[in-house]
Amino acid sequence: MGDNVLLEVKNLRTYFFLDEGVVKAVDGVNFKIEKGKTFGVVGESGCGKSITAQSILRILPPRGEIVEGEIIFYRDDGSVDLVKLDPKGQEIRDIRGKEVAMVFQEPMTALAPVYTIGDQIIEAILLHQNVTKEQARKIAIDLLGRVGIPKPEERVDAYPFELSGGMRQRAMIAMAISSNPSLLIADEPTTALDVTIQAQILDLIKNLQKEMGMATMLITHNMGVIAEMADDVAVMYLGKIVESGPVNEIFYNPKHPYTVALLKSIPKVGKKVKGRLESIEGMVPDPYNLPTGCRFHPRCPSYVEGTCDKAEPPEIEITTGHKVSCFLYGGR
Ligand SMILES: Nc1ncnc2c1ncn2[C@@H]1O[C@H](COP(=O)(O)OP(=O)(O)OP(=O)(O)O)[C@@H](O)[C@H]1O
Ligand SMILES: [Mg+2]
Repeated sequence: MGDNVLLEVKNLRTYFFLDEGVVKAVDGVNFKIEKGKTFGVVGESGCGKSITAQSILRILPPRGEIVEGEIIFYRDDGSVDLVKLDPKGQEIRDIRGKEVAMVFQEPMTALAPVYTIGDQIIEAILLHQNVTKEQARKIAIDLLGRVGIPKPEERVDAYPFELSGGMRQRAMIAMAISSNPSLLIADEPTTALDVTIQAQILDLIKNLQKEMGMATMLITHNMGVIAEMADDVAVMYLGKIVESGPVNEIFYNPKHPYTVALLKSIPKVGKKVKGRLESIEGMVPDPYNLPTGCRFHPRCPSYVEGTCDKAEPPEIEITTGHKVSCFLYGGR
């Protein structure tokens, strides 16, 4: 770590203030993303993965607010705390889409339906690079070719609805990488696609990353995708990171009962899965009324009454870089 850190999130808390109550979507999260590496974030629906990403880019939905913490973005010429920036100001707008780019699950929401994909990529290029419109079009065609879109010189003039889901996702990736970002945030980039296309898109991201040396924050609920892609992993549950570490530690030496349950839920090839995570007992609790103590205790097979429901488990370092928050490993 050390000099290689690109982004450092410290004690981040992002809450929603709603009429029904306060939703602590992200509640004291710490992690570091290293330059050029893939940082995987995994957890069930609603655990705060997307809100963590949106906090970094300062694109939170209404009523969502960062109430505490720091998000330090390191550059060669110094660092900046993204939390301190005005979310509508020039500085974050310069960073967004240029140094930190994002791709989403459903490209239709990011691509405007009334403009061709070429127009949209060209606009992104003109926003961040000092080139003419003609040069930008050449760059756009080149990018579309690089992300594996066939006949890019024709497809550049296609509208998003004229492309398949997989091709749209490629076009969005082309737009995202057009500015040579140092960090790509990919939020469930393949969830909406069928399995073969998913694998192709993940391969594409991996290859681009190698070529360009960019870091990726890859958000998914799929441990299989994490295994395939990530260098480091954070497992989230109800707004907290319950376990984190190098990918091999998480897969071969998982400590948190929630991580263990997630690993059991990896769909086997050829096996039909009913739910997303059929091996985990119980439901994710109501976000307005989080469980006391360890938030996982009501669903935990190793739950110890009088301990796990009373206090929040401290974070314990098992081996270098492998951290877990669970009373099974100390802190009682
Ligand atoms: N616009 C919003 N208004 C109010 N609450 C929200 C909003 N967006 C998210 N939340 C709440 O914040 C919490 C975290 O949501 P988030 O979208 O980060 O989950 P996620 O881990 O990305 O889930 P998924 O896998 O379904 O995408 C949830 O309890 C959710 O209900
Ligand atoms: Mg999400």
